Amino acid sequence: MKRTKIKQLLESGDAGSKVTVKGWVRTKRGSKNVAFLAINDGSTINNIQVVVDVNNNENEALLAKIHTGASISIDGLLTESQGSGQRVELMAENLIILGEANPDEYPLQPKKHSLEFLREIAHLRFRTNTFSAITRLRHSMIFAVHKFFNDKGFLNIHTPIITGSDCEGAGEMFRVSVFDPKNPPLLEDGNVNWKEDFFGKETNLTVSGQLEGELAALALSEIYTFGPTFRAENSNTSRHLAEFWMIEPEMAFYDINDNMDLAEEMLKYLVKYALENCMEDLQFLSKRQQEEESQKPQDQRSMELIEKLKFVLDNDFARISYTEAIDILMKSKPNQKKQFQYPVEKWGTDLQSEHERFLVEKHFKKPVILTDYPKEIKAFYMKQNEDGKTVRAMDVLFPGIGEIIGGSQREENYEKLLNRIREMHIPEKDMWWYLETRKFGTVEHSGYGLGFERLMLFVSGMGNIRDVIPFPRTPKNAEF
Ligand code: 4AD
Ligand code: MG
Repeated sequence: MKRTKIKQLLESGDAGSKVTVKGWVRTKRGSKNVAFLAINDGSTINNIQVVVDVNNNENEALLAKIHTGASISIDGLLTESQGSGQRVELMAENLIILGEANPDEYPLQPKKHSLEFLREIAHLRFRTNTFSAITRLRHSMIFAVHKFFNDKGFLNIHTPIITGSDCEGAGEMFRVSVFDPKNPPLLEDGNVNWKEDFFGKETNLTVSGQLEGELAALALSEIYTFGPTFRAENSNTSRHLAEFWMIEPEMAFYDINDNMDLAEEMLKYLVKYALENCMEDLQFLSKRQQEEESQKPQDQRSMELIEKLKFVLDNDFARISYTEAIDILMKSKPNQKKQFQYPVEKWGTDLQSEHERFLVEKHFKKPVILTDYPKEIKAFYMKQNEDGKTVRAMDVLFPGIGEIIGGSQREENYEKLLNRIREMHIPEKDMWWYLETRKFGTVEHSGYGLGFERLMLFVSGMGNIRDVIPFPRTPKNAEF
């Protein structure tokens, strides 16, 4: 018989029909006459309860071999549930063990495991409620990103993963080379001769698809990329990954205000999509988060997940300049009482996540878009303001996260862009193609990057970015 997914059975299966279910055993309980197996196949957070007659020698022998983690196939009769908490349950008629799981070796038991432990068994953590919920939510968010942009007529562009440039200019790149590290070809001066490497030049994994995205936008008007990006920054925090996914729209004829409008509309769309399509998983994640929060002191607890998501939908994001933010921060209580790890002392300093979170969580109590940062702390491509000091940058700051989006209006003036590239000692010869778009038919344009895992942190209520991507890459960790 053809397998039916558990989600479909629980939602619309007809009592009285014969069905086949396949999945993994979550729990086994028994009484004298019947055994109850909770089976999950990943299609929903909910298990189907399978009722097995124990007064049947064959079943008894099979049941002895079925433990948490085993995979089984059941043909049976769908019946109205007597009390499993579900609408229907399955009366087993034919039970087949597909793969046993030895309880002395299988690391997942029907109890609460710590997230740290689950990271060590990332090959099996998909089988927990938490990670199956996150995986379904992640899928829905990926789908919603594409739907949002597709419905607006944006074109998805695949930008290269191997590049010769450093978009953000931070020098935090992973080298791509085929050289034998012990014996690379050398120049007479002792330096490595990169001309002999695979691409005939130095290459690295991309930190952002923006520069190539701009090339496409300056012909196709509205495009977006959604790809993996790589950063060799040694930040071992709960918000940084060495490999993460970024959504980068780039739009011709948009100024910074249009850019902010799009970012706010997109974030609200994604949150709304989660509320409308992932409620069961969100409810599970909310409960999980509340259990975790109950360990914390009252004033450090965050808002209930679903309430928090609705709150973002219902409020306009605050929009202020960097200069105004510095003013608020300098006058703030934690700054005056020296409670910030990095005190805010003068205009020009970069904002740390503690400052961003103060603005969002304590001062404005809603998402904030900060604009017009000092040019010294931002990338070369941002449009220079007339004051000569600031650039048309925009960062979107979220509660519990800090920066979720970074973007800007782009410098479209050839001379100004070239000057900035020279001032910042960016290798001009690698930038000729980028500069040419300002030489030929340049237009005002803007874009931004949304860190997909930061979005996932927000929507799932999880506290560590390692728990919202299946296989996290962080300093000293590339297992699985
Ligand atoms: O602010 P960033 O560095 O901006 C850019 O890369 C621009 N080129 C984007 C653009 O304008 N097209 O990164 C954008 C976002 C951040 O706001 C953050 O959400 C996320 O990417 N991000 C990270 N997420 C996880 N781990 C890291 N190490 C991250 N670094 C940045
Ligand atoms: Mg940034």
